[in-house]
Amino acid sequence: MNRRTFLKTATIGTLALGAVRDAFAIEKYFPVKADQSLFEIINRVKDPLNKTPLEKSHAPAITAPKNVKAGEPFTIEISIGEVVHSMGPAHWIEYIELNIGNEPAGRIDFQPKGYLKPKAIFTVVLTKESAPSGKVTLIAYQRCNLHGYWEGSLDVTVI
Ligand SMILES: [Fe+2]
Repeated sequence: MNRRTFLKTATIGTLALGAVRDAFAIEKYFPVKADQSLFEIINRVKDPLNKTPLEKSHAPAITAPKNVKAGEPFTIEISIGEVVHSMGPAHWIEYIELNIGNEPAGRIDFQPKGYLKPKAIFTVVLTKESAPSGKVTLIAYQRCNLHGYWEGSLDVTVI
């Protein structure tokens, strides 16, 4: 085997080995096939009185006071979901995000190590200007690595 043939064979072999290794790594990282349709839209609870198991474990549940005083801090707790979602290396919540109306307010990213529960607590201060009509909609988003994007919301009155 001359030098040129050796280099060509070694290069092709290395590329093929890398492709096979990447394919196995992806299978190991995502052992369960994801439902791609859940990633094409923002998922919401369709009937609050008759939630599906997927909605119960994925829709963000927001806990906050109904009435808050302008300029005074209060806490907003967001849990994924009302049946707390698992947080293992193959299936986990990637982040929780809070919007105040249309304004992004904050986001917490999670790692798939299993240390953290998919809950976040934000301390928030609203002003009268943030609620010109006297109400503000708190919107929580989350992304599950297998079950896509989910949204939950809660109205708060600012007094
Ligand atoms: Fe999930």
